[in-house]
Amino acid sequence: MTSNKQIAVIVIPTYNEAGSIGEMIEYLNTKTFPSLDQKWDMKILVVDSNSPDGTGKIVSEKSKKYSNTFLFAETSKDGIGAAYLKGFKYSMEKLNADFIFEFDSDFQHPPESIPGMLQAMDEGYDYVIGSRKIKGGSNPKGWGFKRVFLSEVGSMIARLVMFFPFKNFFKVTDPTTGLKITRVKGFTDHLNLDFSHLYTKSFGYKFQLLFETLKLGAKFKEVPLQFGLRETGESKIEKQATIEMLMVVFKIRWYDDFTQKFLKFGIIGGFGFVVNVVGAKVFKSIMITPTSNLSYLNGIANAMASELAIISNFVFNNLWTFAANKITSPKIFISKFITFNLSSIVTGIVIPSVVIAILTSIFGDYLFLYQIIVIFGLTIPLNWFVYNKFIWKKK
Ligand code: GDD
Ligand code: MN
Repeated sequence: MTSNKQIAVIVIPTYNEAGSIGEMIEYLNTKTFPSLDQKWDMKILVVDSNSPDGTGKIVSEKSKKYSNTFLFAETSKDGIGAAYLKGFKYSMEKLNADFIFEFDSDFQHPPESIPGMLQAMDEGYDYVIGSRKIKGGSNPKGWGFKRVFLSEVGSMIARLVMFFPFKNFFKVTDPTTGLKITRVKGFTDHLNLDFSHLYTKSFGYKFQLLFETLKLGAKFKEVPLQFGLRETGESKIEKQATIEMLMVVFKIRWYDDFTQKFLKFGIIGGFGFVVNVVGAKVFKSIMITPTSNLSYLNGIANAMASELAIISNFVFNNLWTFAANKITSPKIFISKFITFNLSSIVTGIVIPSVVIAILTSIFGDYLFLYQIIVIFGLTIPLNWFVYNKFIWKKK
């Protein structure tokens, strides 16, 4: 069967939401969905953690009334993150979802946000989230200073730790939001949906999914979210969740392959520096005689040690930092090494020396300061760039 309909599934995880879930299903089916363009085929999937208050029973009653409404009954309470991943899988495999919403049962996410988020998908976005921090978005009026303050500080830390200094630091203003829509093709279907890979199955999941989805290159935007007050029931967020969420953002950044690569690159570079300094001493002590011309000797000893450091950098980066793109063919190895060697001379000697000479002529004699500036400001970034773009280019 072919149709032009686009299937959007609203995934709602629940634990003890008997006070709101029935009303939410009614509201979506009778108020929100009828107002949408005909091309949207809207479905609701409630993932219930076997709530003792009978939430699941309410949903299964509603699913008899509405054929687009489904219950996924979990046998255990595995946390909101796990519930979402189970829901994503079910939405793709059983409900043929083209788009998946993450949505709360308790009306804190206004159903009125739905049409605008669908429209953004129509415009070609892949990932749209509700933000309380942009114009038109807001926190509940009833939130006291302490809660707002914690939320602000928490989200700034999360943004910094996960994204700084890259563009997503500026683009993601509300990383803790729970209201999202994701395009399945290319994104949800590329995520690891095995929840054992989550750093936490509880509320910190949202950072990990956010990070992973953006990493897949999703075209992203935020829409304003007027986060409401919970009307019935109580928040399921556990006390330890704050600390746990903080741990999660650090883990996400630390284990990210970019970070791991950059750290290895730094370690190998630092080792290369030691090879250069120690090597120069060793070569000098070997070559020195009572009649040595010291300036000539120092120059030669340093040149030999620098070459040794370049070899060390090339070999260890190949084996470790860029192991995923390791060069193995001897022919390519040699030609890449020649390129590497030449570029190391340019980025490590020629450019820094010229810049130091220029800085000295403008600002005076601060050699050590200039060395720090050129190493961190020029040599390291240039090498990183050359290694990634030319030497160990991703296939
Ligand atoms: N299946 C399942 N299993 N559902 C769960 C579980 C669980 O272990 N824990 C929570 N839920 C459901 C709740 O029943 C609710 O529908 C939804 O997940 C969100 O939980 P709330 O308890 O309402 O969370 P909150 O209001 O404190 O947090 C909300 O606001 C945050 C922003 O401040 C959520 O939207 C968060 O995702 C959001 O980050
Ligand atoms: Mn809530």
